[in-house]
Amino acid sequence: MTSKAGSNAPESRSGILAIHGGTPVRSTPLPLEFPGVHHMDDEEIDAAVRVLRSRSPFRYYGIDLQREVESFEAEFAQYLGIDHCLAVNSGTGALHLALSALGVGPGQEVIVPAYMWVSVVAAVVNLGAIPVLADIDETFGVDPESVAAKIGPRTAGVIVVHMSGTPVNVQEVAKIARERGIFLLEDCAQCAGGSIGGQKVGTFGDMAIFSFQMNKNMTSGEGGAVVTRHEHLFHRAVACHDTGYARDAAGRAMFERRDLCLWGRGYRLDEMRAAILRVQLRKLPRIIEQMHGSKYRIRKALEQLPEIRLRRIVDEAGDTGCFLLTTFATAEMARELNQALRAEGIITSSQGVNNVVMTEWGLHIYYNIPSLVLKTSIDKNNFPWGLSENRECRAEYGKGTCPQADSLFERTILIAIPSCLSPQDEDDIVGAFRKVLAAVPA
Ligand SMILES: Cc1ncc(COP(=O)(O)O)c(C=O)c1O
Repeated sequence: MTSKAGSNAPESRSGILAIHGGTPVRSTPLPLEFPGVHHMDDEEIDAAVRVLRSRSPFRYYGIDLQREVESFEAEFAQYLGIDHCLAVNSGTGALHLALSALGVGPGQEVIVPAYMWVSVVAAVVNLGAIPVLADIDETFGVDPESVAAKIGPRTAGVIVVHMSGTPVNVQEVAKIARERGIFLLEDCAQCAGGSIGGQKVGTFGDMAIFSFQMNKNMTSGEGGAVVTRHEHLFHRAVACHDTGYARDAAGRAMFERRDLCLWGRGYRLDEMRAAILRVQLRKLPRIIEQMHGSKYRIRKALEQLPEIRLRRIVDEAGDTGCFLLTTFATAEMARELNQALRAEGIITSSQGVNNVVMTEWGLHIYYNIPSLVLKTSIDKNNFPWGLSENRECRAEYGKGTCPQADSLFERTILIAIPSCLSPQDEDDIVGAFRKVLAAVPA
């Protein structure tokens, strides 16, 4: 990248890009992501200790049961404004349970976005169904037009994923799903607390899932939730998450409900993590406020730079703010700017994955998932790809399947916005963008 001023210009050393030997904008790493973790303190410690002192770490019975899981489920459902919540031990498990409750199996296709997390396609494949990719648009959510085009005779449903902390255009997809008679599952793993028009994500479809793994807006290290308005789907999820049998309000297995005698997966949440999650839920508005504030102060400053195209936001007020996406005219420009920004110190310590061109964003990008592209199988019968029921299903996953996504991924830089950015950190991010863009040839 050559300086606009030219090599003979009387430039101060701080104006020379760090990648060309100048002084970097900052010399200390940015804070790591992990939104909930930065707000952990004695409250979480006390909650965990409360459970240990009770010597009752299991949700359904114990010496002095604290009913932390049950309380968390009620509190999270109330926070979202939904009828039923089942807390589970991971977001991946929650996806399996929701799809099991919805009856997904061989001979069915489930539409998934090109931008997601590997667990989304894994859940479909593990149940014997076939994922069908839909393209994304500039919201980085699934493009409703692509969803409509991908619906075929075998389509059972669609999964909308609110990626990188920002609610996507779920209302349009919900309308299509209703009209075409397919289910809508929302994956809110990366967007707990997000909303559209004041309505929380997780309440727009038939079911929704959340993850409370460490990278998420609220966390207990591991954890997840399945939510729904439909009582029957809820009971099915409860049965599958436990021993295969639904439980009544007193926690007793309902063997007499023959429609709910299913097969269990062992995805229960324990009392200690639920106690921690109850504290994190109370802190969630503060965590989001912090990230949202930082992200939009940075976005407002970057709006002044004509080379940058910012992610299209469906509802700014409901954006949780944990990631910033900046898109450029060409892949080459994104790659060069990313290298230059990293040299200016817009990086985290070695543990963090931050400030990457999205093609490097691992298992979030459909063509980076080897098991999907290669259609691998766990068993020798090539399940589910080789099942006779799936013979007519469509299964294309190589790069090029979703051209809009391919173009956005290679032209977009992703930067995490931790929940503890200081005004100086924000200024450095903006300052680094200004500095490296000033060096782009006009
Ligand atoms: C979009 C999305 N869905 C599902 C999951 C799975 O959650 P977990 O890691 O709790 O299994 C993740 C986790 O990163 C995710 O980002």
